[in-house]
Amino acid sequence: MSKTIKKICCIGAGYVGGPTMSVVAKQCPHIEITIVDMNAERIAAWNDENLENLPVYEPGLQEIVAEARGRNLFFSTDINKAIDEADMIFISVNTPTKNYGKGKGMAADLKYIELCARQIASVAKDDKILVEKSTLPVRTAAALKSILDNTGNGVNFHILSNPEFLAEGTAIQDLINPDRVLIGGENEEAIAALVNIYAHWVDQSKILTTNLWSSELSKLTANAFLAQRVSSINSISALCEKTGANVDEVSKAIGMDTRIGAKFLKASVGFGGSCFQKDILNLVYIARSYGLTEVAEYWDQVILMNDYQKQRFADNIIQTLYNTVSGKKIAFLGWAFKKDTNDTRESAAIYVADYLLNEQAEITVYDPKVSAERIYADLDYLNTRSSEENRLLVKVVNTPYEACDDAHAVAILTEWDEFKSYDWKKIKDQMKKPAFVFDGRKLLNRKQLEDLDFKYYAIGE
Ligand code: UDX
Ligand code: UDX
Ligand code: ADP
Repeated sequence: MSKTIKKICCIGAGYVGGPTMSVVAKQCPHIEITIVDMNAERIAAWNDENLENLPVYEPGLQEIVAEARGRNLFFSTDINKAIDEADMIFISVNTPTKNYGKGKGMAADLKYIELCARQIASVAKDDKILVEKSTLPVRTAAALKSILDNTGNGVNFHILSNPEFLAEGTAIQDLINPDRVLIGGENEEAIAALVNIYAHWVDQSKILTTNLWSSELSKLTANAFLAQRVSSINSISALCEKTGANVDEVSKAIGMDTRIGAKFLKASVGFGGSCFQKDILNLVYIARSYGLTEVAEYWDQVILMNDYQKQRFADNIIQTLYNTVSGKKIAFLGWAFKKDTNDTRESAAIYVADYLLNEQAEITVYDPKVSAERIYADLDYLNTRSSEENRLLVKVVNTPYEACDDAHAVAILTEWDEFKSYDWKKIKDQMKKPAFVFDGRKLLNRKQLEDLDFKYYAIGE
């Protein structure tokens, strides 16, 4: 008999914790779920009456929050109370790449996780099941266990690894209908308690249980493989541009081999997002720390190829605009790292903009979901130039037509659907001639644009 879970606490109300727990609350109305965060502003936004103000944008999320919030889904800053009352605690805090000290730029920074562990240990007065949701380096559970057992009040903690595989932009769909749910652990009863929660809406055959370390390593491996596919097809896109092959045709041809599969073979300006680069760097760091140099170097190439792709896209713009973009206005359509999200972490747009700004370009950005503050913060974070300079050279506007007005070139950085249905004739008429479009997402229709007299460049063609 496994323990029946009545109350859940989730620490971390971000892109993972928020949507994941909202879906659990929707599917399990009998479980009371409290999502806590030390960021009071973020919690206030989750509690905002106006659902447009939720801190995370995901198609379908607002409806679920509207249904469950106040019924069995709560957002709070009272972390201790939520820990104290919960039978099961999900840890969904951020694990960014370290930006200081040993492993700087490579290893995951576990300080937020450790803080959580210490807080849980000091508060808990009865047995708890702890679930790692954040992506963590292999064997983090051992560190967590050690902290809990040495600083706790003599209660039992069972640690489970339950990595999240949702992709942003399709989070709700991925959570409601996952390819699989992975649960790693040592204690049968704790594993069964978590299996029973998912079993409310996920078929038992899709709930996979493994040992802790396999589960932790599978998450890093899955992201590394997915990113590798993007880098692999992007490497071929460069070859296509030289040889006259078309990368979409190559993707289609290889993807029909069931051993390869058709998904995740879309050539692009480069992958972004909070996970791929961080998780590969982490894998590389772990491999190095075990002396597995060849393994580390193998995976490192996936990142090098991604950096090359972003640089190549920017270089092509500069070269095509007669080798200078100095003082030229370039319109960026899209800033998010993919469509249907307001997340910009590691977005290719940031790095492409940075290269072009180094060449003294003037950039005007339009993104349907990303705020001006976010865009400036992303550029400031690079520390390439002062924030005054960033504000002088980069303008953020509210319509695509404003962005493209009088521009020498348009660069498509995110594959937002709405970009396809713009009045491209109107855009061309407003632009400097020749009017260039650099499509980093292979989103637009070449024939349509060429008929309008655009000079159209797409990745891998
Ligand atoms: C390969 C391609 O599969 C085929 O499409 C192409 O036409 C020719 O090259 P082949 O070399 O005959 O075919 O055999 P394949 O089954 O692909 O195996 C190649 C090697 O990879 C073998 O040594 C095999 O043992 C190894 N392999 C394959 C693995 O080690 N692990 C795997 O999961 C698959
Ligand atoms: C990824 C994993 O897909 C998900 O399982 C994991 O839980 C978190 O990391 P996410 O980063 O949200 O999800 O989005 P994803 O759809 O994987 O896209 C990542 C990046 O790769 C985006 O910048 C996207 O534009 C790019 N990409 C993806 C391509 O360039 N080509 C493709 O074919 C697929
Ligand atoms: P992810 O994409 O992994 O969800 P986010 O950065 O969106 O990452 O969310 C992580 C959240 O975790 C942030 O809102 C942050 O404030 C919160 N957080 C980090 N450490 C703690 C902690 N010790 N206690 C409570 N909340 C925390």
